[in-house]
Amino acid sequence: MDNHTNAEGRLASLDVFPPAQSYVYLDAASVGLTHKTAAEAINRWQTELAEDGTVAFDEEAEVKCFDDLNAATAQLFNATPADIAVASSETVLMSSLAWAAMPKRGSTIVATTITHPSTVYPWMRVAQHTGAEMRWVKPRESMAIDMDELLGAIDANTSVVCISHVEYGTGQTYDLRAIAEQAHRHGALCVVDGTQSAGQVVVDAAGSGVDAVATSTYKWLCGPFGTGLTYISPRMQEMNPGLLGWRSHKDMWDFQADRVELPDGAKRYEFGTMAYGTAIGATVSLRYLLDTGIGKIQAHNSKISAQLIEGLRELGAEVLGPTDPMQRSATVAARFAGKDSAQFARTLKQNNVIASLRKDFIRFSPHFYNSADDIGRGLAAIRAAL
Ligand SMILES: Cc1ncc(COP(=O)(O)O)c(C=O)c1O
Repeated sequence: MDNHTNAEGRLASLDVFPPAQSYVYLDAASVGLTHKTAAEAINRWQTELAEDGTVAFDEEAEVKCFDDLNAATAQLFNATPADIAVASSETVLMSSLAWAAMPKRGSTIVATTITHPSTVYPWMRVAQHTGAEMRWVKPRESMAIDMDELLGAIDANTSVVCISHVEYGTGQTYDLRAIAEQAHRHGALCVVDGTQSAGQVVVDAAGSGVDAVATSTYKWLCGPFGTGLTYISPRMQEMNPGLLGWRSHKDMWDFQADRVELPDGAKRYEFGTMAYGTAIGATVSLRYLLDTGIGKIQAHNSKISAQLIEGLRELGAEVLGPTDPMQRSATVAARFAGKDSAQFARTLKQNNVIASLRKDFIRFSPHFYNSADDIGRGLAAIRAAL
């Protein structure tokens, strides 16, 4: 136990994450455990709406429903609320950003081949439309992307670098400042998918100089499905979002269909209704993480994932991704020579050790509700399965 963890060696309380006691839950990169009070707040909102309709959720409430989440997200991304927009998912926000940027014919969009489809498919769709081209950076051995190679792929012809801050499979973590600087040196945008980083590592969106960061809330932020958060830089706030709807007009209650005046700031990327109650739940979970401290979460997670890596290597696993701890997050991908990873993941699940199968490896993703004891129990189950 260190200064910050509780008696169980966890950084988060079992009161709000009860399943962390029943399972060795190492699957935040897939779906994080949902904060209990957040889930309750969503249910309450939905029940009130069902019982009282617009008496419970009136027009003023519909205007202000994102205010608390905007403020919390600004803190998460080290930005101001005017730089934040909320929608229903990362994919929706990334699509709007891609159509706003509209990379030109012949220009290149730099991305890695190991990134999540949701990071790049929106850009590939726009490229299909404009004639821009994808420039793929491939991993070297053990699925690690070489940072020099990535930076070298960004040149005068680049219009956008589209990167997942943390790779969904291997947990490789990129230096956003270095990538943004290289992109800007060549006049390109740097747009980031923060779905695998927000909540587990510090995301200094404004300080790193990136042009946008978009994330969903159901993974490392321990919130619900149905909410997406984005930081949008002043440069992208000047652009025309790809998705417009009735909330896109300055005064959304004006209802004048034959013109649209976009609001100033990032708000122009908020366009329509969504499952609003999820935004209330996302605020509760996000506030809990912020009050705990993302820096502390990162330090705790890094300690237990280092323990996991060491244990896995002792058991003969190949751990994928970079060897440099500075380029790693808590996500750990591993495979065992001669073992079927699918069968292996199933056996672990039967023993209440929850991880996910991705391609031919198993991905473990411990979070702040896990303890060193959890990792010990997980490793014991792996040893038994071997
Ligand atoms: C990096 C990354 N981006 C996006 C997503 C999914 O985005 P959405 O919630 O919009 O479907 C995932 C889900 O695994 C992911 O790992």
